[in-house]
Amino acid sequence: MLLEAERETKPDADPAFRADVIAGLSGERKAIPARWFYDRRGSELFEEITELPEYYPTRTERALLEVYACDVAKLAGPGRAVVEFGSGSSAKTPLLLGAVEPSSYVPIDISGDFLRESAAALSQRFPGLPVHPIEADFMHPIALPQAIGHAPRLGFFPGSTVGNLTAPTAVDLLRAMAGTLGVGSMLLIGMDRVKDEAALIAAYDDAQGVTAAFNLNLLHRINRELDGDIPVEAFRHVARWNDAEARIEMHLEAVRDVRFAAAGHRFAIRQGETIHTENSHKYDRRSARLLLAAGGWAPIAEWTDPQDRFAILLAEVKPPRTAP
Ligand code: AVI
Repeated sequence: MLLEAERETKPDADPAFRADVIAGLSGERKAIPARWFYDRRGSELFEEITELPEYYPTRTERALLEVYACDVAKLAGPGRAVVEFGSGSSAKTPLLLGAVEPSSYVPIDISGDFLRESAAALSQRFPGLPVHPIEADFMHPIALPQAIGHAPRLGFFPGSTVGNLTAPTAVDLLRAMAGTLGVGSMLLIGMDRVKDEAALIAAYDDAQGVTAAFNLNLLHRINRELDGDIPVEAFRHVARWNDAEARIEMHLEAVRDVRFAAAGHRFAIRQGETIHTENSHKYDRRSARLLLAAGGWAPIAEWTDPQDRFAILLAEVKPPRTAP
C-alpha cells in the first residue's frame, strides 16, 4: 500500500530503478524486476553463486563448451564476428573463441567497468583479435560497430539468462538479436533443463545462504540508493518451483507486518506477503526449440550433459516467414 511521500531519492539514483521500485511495491502483487539484482555487490554475489556446489548450471555449461566448442566451430565455420550478449566476466568466452577462429569479438554488457576489464583480459589472451566492447542494455536494439565489416555473426548468449525472461519478452529479445546480427547469422545459447524439483530448489536456496544474500541485497540496494529504511531482517529468501510455468521463482517474504519508506514513498507489507524478485524458466527439448523458433531461430544442433541438466543449442536465423 502506498501511504505518503516522505523521503527524498538520492540525486544520482537511477530513475528507472526508482520507477520500478515504486510501481513494484505499490500493487497488490508485489514484484521488482530481477535486472536490479546486479549492482556491484549483487554481481559479486552472483559470481559466488556460480561456484556453489548446488548451482550446477555454470560448471555444466562450461564442461559442455569444453567438449563441444569444436563441433560448434565445424558448423559455424571460421571468420565470424562473435557477439556476446550480457558478457559479464566473459568467463566462458575463451572456450568458444579458442575454437571458432573468429574475425572479431563484440562483448555487450550494461556494466561498463566490468566490460572494459574483461575485454582487456580477453585482448591479452587472444592477441591480434579485434575486440569491440559495447556498453549497452541488450534488451534494446544495438548497432554493431562498423569495424566488424560484413563478416557473418555468431551470437553467444550463455548461462540460461534467457530463462530470466517470461516467454513474450524472451521472444522479443530473440527477434531483436536476429535483427541485430542479421542475415546468415547463428546463435549459440545456453538453456537450463527442467529436472528434479529438489535439485532445482537446492540450486536456488543453497546451504551457505549465498543465494539468500543475493536476493536480500536488493533490499539493501533500495536502502542505499533510494534512501530507504527497509528492515531487511523482516524478510526471508524463498525459492519455489512453479510447475505450471516450469520455473523457479525467487521471492522475499515478510516474516511480520512491515512499514517502510523508499524512493520518497511509504509502503506497507503484511506478514506472509512476498515481493517476487526473479523467474528462472527451465526448458525441455521441445519447449527450448519452440521458444527459439518463435524468436526467429531454427535450431541446427544441440548438446547436453549425460544427466541432461543443461543444454547448449546452435541455431541459425530463419529467413522471413514462409507458408504454412
Ligand atoms: C543469471 N541467471 C541465469 C541466474 C539463474 O539461474 O536464473 C540468476 C540466479 N538467480 C539465483 N541464482 C542464480
